[in-house]
Amino acid sequence: MRILTGIQPSGRLHLGNYLGAMRQCVELQKKADDCFYFIADYHALTTVSDPQALRDSIHGVALDFLSAGLDPEKVVFFRQSDVPEVQELSWLLSIVTPMARLELAHSYKDKLAHGKEATHALFTYPVLMAADILLYQSDLVPVGKDQKQHLEITRDLAAKFNQKFGEVFKMPDGYIPDSVATVPGTDGQKMSKSYGNTIPLAGTPKEIKKAIMGIVTDSAPVEAKKDPETNNVYKIYKLLATPEQAAEMAERFRAGGYGYGDAKKELLRVYEEVLAPFRERRAHFEAHPDEVRDILASGAAKARVEARRTLGAARRAVGLD
Ligand code: TYM
Repeated sequence: MRILTGIQPSGRLHLGNYLGAMRQCVELQKKADDCFYFIADYHALTTVSDPQALRDSIHGVALDFLSAGLDPEKVVFFRQSDVPEVQELSWLLSIVTPMARLELAHSYKDKLAHGKEATHALFTYPVLMAADILLYQSDLVPVGKDQKQHLEITRDLAAKFNQKFGEVFKMPDGYIPDSVATVPGTDGQKMSKSYGNTIPLAGTPKEIKKAIMGIVTDSAPVEAKKDPETNNVYKIYKLLATPEQAAEMAERFRAGGYGYGDAKKELLRVYEEVLAPFRERRAHFEAHPDEVRDILASGAAKARVEARRTLGAARRAVGLD
């Protein structure tokens, strides 16, 4: 069983990325013998236009992904752009991509609604993502809910291509656990780099404290009984704490006499505890950039072998042999 996922280097990674995708990736590497995880730098070019910012982000995502606990011995970890075969496959898939399918993509419409220019790259983003997944004959793709439609498009394109040119691609499935499908941000909307509502993974203690203390709550007084399920502090706490810790906080809110300030301090404590191993590993990789470079180079070499095999089959299927 092959597991594959990608993360864009379009800014600093946050708790939503960690809980929505990275934590599952680390758990799955223990069960599956075959994991392909990559830094989606071609995709990031749709929103990042400063070359140095892109370089810094690529390095940051490499450090973060490895620090989340990826085992480089088990996982093929690479940069998307180190395997340019994906671009050719993207073209081959584009010949079976209906325009109307892309016009309906939520993430495209959402980006336009947030003032982004309607470029060709932004529009065809899902085709490149389908190529990422199909190039490596992936079985399972762990992602957050915001990627669900992209997976549906991927499956559609695989089916269309296979039907038209013969069986070339495996049909992938998404892996989107309900509990972490959409991690809320500090303002209650989906946590997202582009909404400015994130809790950064590799932030300084001051930045993390500021983000957590800034979580938006209502103005109910300390003594009031509160419904835990409707407040942002509890919603985020529940995703990080143990079930017992979460039950205890929920009970305190329901009983009254427990304020949001105390809950935020408890969230900060658990955040620091859960992410302590992440921070330790990150300090190691920050001090050893050569190790990171070697892991990515060896990952790219392995990924390329797989990529060439599938691309060869797709080229033969369409008559480009
Ligand atoms: P990206 O870089 O936006 O996000 C990386 C992963 O984090 C998940 N995520 C969340 N999950 C739950 N709650 C949130 N608030 C939250 N915010 C982000 C995303 O769902 C994603 O799993 N298009 C992809 C990158 C990509 C890719 C691929 C993924 C390119 N090619 C092939 C899988 C397979 C993206 O923009 O993710």
